[in-house]
Amino acid sequence: MRILISGFGTVGQGFAEVLMRRRDFFVGRYGKEVSIVCVMDSSTFAKDRAGIPPDDLLERKRTTGKVGTETYADSVEVMDSVDYDLLVEVSPTDIKTGGAGLKNIRHALESGKDVVTVNKGPLALNFCELVTLAKKNGCKFRFEGSVGGAMPIINLCRECLVGENVSSIRGILNGTCNFILSKMDNGQPFEQALKEAQQMGYAETDPTNDVEGYDSACKAVILANSIFGRNVAFSDVSITGITSISGEAISLAASQNMVIRLIGEVSEDRLEVSPRLIPKGHPLSINGTLNVAQIVTDLAGPITVSGRGAGRTETASAILSDLVSVMDDRKERGDRCRNP
Ligand code: HSE
Repeated sequence: MRILISGFGTVGQGFAEVLMRRRDFFVGRYGKEVSIVCVMDSSTFAKDRAGIPPDDLLERKRTTGKVGTETYADSVEVMDSVDYDLLVEVSPTDIKTGGAGLKNIRHALESGKDVVTVNKGPLALNFCELVTLAKKNGCKFRFEGSVGGAMPIINLCRECLVGENVSSIRGILNGTCNFILSKMDNGQPFEQALKEAQQMGYAETDPTNDVEGYDSACKAVILANSIFGRNVAFSDVSITGITSISGEAISLAASQNMVIRLIGEVSEDRLEVSPRLIPKGHPLSINGTLNVAQIVTDLAGPITVSGRGAGRTETASAILSDLVSVMDDRKERGDRCRNP
């Protein structure tokens, strides 16, 4: 498996670290290591058809701030100059245009390459186009880490709960907002709590995307399309963020044994992100940066999952799981071809 990584920020570097930590796992399972044949950051790239050791990439990024010594003007030209099997797309998300991520994913799928991504912008804006493109070109296209980071939800619903009728999903899909609201429960002002969330590296580059509910809305769109088979985009979500929630509103809720939480709700006919009153002790009343989702199914009943919605290694763990799934699939197909 030859991998091209586009984006070498927190998540890209976390993924390189995870590949090192799981070296023996890959050798044991597939008889060889995963090989990184190219990495692009925002302006430079490094490539080597023999594979680049992840620690070399990490060291160069740490000491020079860049992943490569060569610069590029067009990421597609770099992609076309490399023999790779799978694109890991983790460039900075752009929820207005899809940005470089959209261009890179499109190009990889058009070229018949498998894609694993956690990039929310392209998925929230062009989900159906990308899934159709993947099908048309016979490519695997997986994006578990785009919703809830390490919290399993997309593959859980599509694989473990495959025979269920899922009627709704309600969840806390943004760690920054949950952190702010939890801090406000303890009397901390909004601005101070936001600053802390930014220092912890949880908030988006532009935290407006968190506090106005846009990030949660992207995730709601991804769930609606991937789990409910809908054909919706970001502009279809009814969104209310948390910026107008006052300390008084939080205190009033507390006096009734409630907390206010930013909830994303998705079903066949709902697509909404809004602050809701949640009884204290309810699974959706969690504190801090955790994400949580309640999946309502017909046979299994309600299922609740929770986990870290962001973070370097945590998000990389979701990419790892998608990568293994693609590799298992290839291995199975290879075995079938050898033993018809
Ligand atoms: N800013 C996001 C959050 C990061 O706070 O949950 C993960 O998508």
